[in-house]
Amino acid sequence: MKTPETILIIDFGSQYTQLIARRVREREVYSEIFSHKISLKKIREISPKGIILSGGPMSVYEEDSPQTDREIFNLGIPVLGICYGMQLMSEYLGGEVKATSDREYGRALLTSKEEGKLLRGLSSETIVWMSHGDLVEKPPKGFRVVGTSDHTPVCVIENEKKMFFGVQFHPEVSHTAEGGKIIENFLFGICGCAGDWTAANFISKSVDKIKEEAGESQVICALSGGVDSTVAAVLVHKALKERLHCIHINNGLMRKDESGEVVRLFREKLGLEVSNVDATELFLGRLKGVFEPEKKRKIIGNTFIEVFEGEAKKIKNATHLVQGTLYPDVIESVSVKGESATIKTHHNVGGLPEKMNLKLIEPFRELFKDEVRRVGRELSIDEELIKRHPFPGPGLGVRILGEINREELEVLRNADEIFIGEIKKAGIYDEIWQAFCVLLPVRSVGVMGDARTYENVLALRGVTSTDGMTADWYKFDYEFLARVSNLIINKVKGVNRVVYDISSKPPSTIEWE
Ligand code: XMP
Repeated sequence: MKTPETILIIDFGSQYTQLIARRVREREVYSEIFSHKISLKKIREISPKGIILSGGPMSVYEEDSPQTDREIFNLGIPVLGICYGMQLMSEYLGGEVKATSDREYGRALLTSKEEGKLLRGLSSETIVWMSHGDLVEKPPKGFRVVGTSDHTPVCVIENEKKMFFGVQFHPEVSHTAEGGKIIENFLFGICGCAGDWTAANFISKSVDKIKEEAGESQVICALSGGVDSTVAAVLVHKALKERLHCIHINNGLMRKDESGEVVRLFREKLGLEVSNVDATELFLGRLKGVFEPEKKRKIIGNTFIEVFEGEAKKIKNATHLVQGTLYPDVIESVSVKGESATIKTHHNVGGLPEKMNLKLIEPFRELFKDEVRRVGRELSIDEELIKRHPFPGPGLGVRILGEINREELEVLRNADEIFIGEIKKAGIYDEIWQAFCVLLPVRSVGVMGDARTYENVLALRGVTSTDGMTADWYKFDYEFLARVSNLIINKVKGVNRVVYDISSKPPSTIEWE
């Protein structure tokens, strides 16, 4: 199978590296991020149309600063260096880089001195976004300066003959007004990309690849009803037809009528049979008397593996497992980032492949969530399924704080149904990354009719986000909040007080446990 035309992104640890990949792929050119330690052999294998060197937090002169193979400049492939990438390129090719006392962060005005290839078609003055301490003082031989800013005389450089380019600012961030144009100039004007990496293209290539990976085997898939596993199942089904076996496990922690709905939608709208396993008793039994969030997560995760394993064994000759793993989960992290602490043990089918000796089929290892949605649309999957808010593996189990019992699950399901229903009615569901209710282990006094009540407090949570890594609370209008609060308190027995969570992530997290 032919690999698509590729832009290779070499990562030096910038917080914006993923954004560079997105900006390229939004223009229908495939891009992949690699650590700066990538070998020249690997680069030759990939045979990219162009290379982008990312920014990074370090200075090229620092002792442990990330380096890359200098030979990339002898491959005859166009290179664009961004910030640290530009400084490294300058240093490798004989220019001069200096630390500056005059650090420049945020907005700056770029003035084009000459049009050149990279700035072709840009306004002569345009806003760009800076974030740097070092500067290129003197560009390497053969380069000319085509753009400057107040604090950065050598702001954009190019060597048209060799096709090497450098920008001191970040064209990938949305604050750089004409950043998209710069990226387009690099992709199409300089690297000569065709821009044919479309969803339809991706699907036909993936179908071939899945067929090749699966051979004659039977393949299983754990379906939660979320976007990633849904689109993955439909794609694999397109390739393997009845050799794909979908299993949905009801862990008793799903939202109202959710399990039945998932199975019905798959059968009726997607023509996929799903075996529906109700393991509610087992899950809730094991969670009895458990209060600690991490313990709850581990019990739910391990029980899931156990139940799934039992079901999968019923399918003869199953050797492969489909997973909806996304790109942000698999990016090789570079050494400069260091290890991150475990905040929450995320539940997915993680432990399964090793335990059951299954090979993985992960058709979205190279995609971002919005790209998966685009693939889903191309596969004619219902918008309703594609736009669903993310729902965590441990489900309502992490939205009832402390011990879980059936009564509280019922309260939470009823409240959640009202909240989400009102959000949909108000036409704001798609503006919100995720919205849900959390039942707090706190009771407060209220008055209903003439009687005193002593019931639970329920928190509403609504956040905006692009990837779940950071998030801000959604600004519902007061009328909306008032309506939801009234409806919940009046209709849901067991709740007499509703509060709204106004915490961002960080320092809070999206889910409460
Ligand atoms: P947090 O609470 O860590 O959540 O800010 C970030 C995003 O991840 C979802 N989430 C999970 N997803 N398994 C999942 O598949 C899990 O165990 C899990 N825990 C949290 C959460 O809903 C949010 O979208």
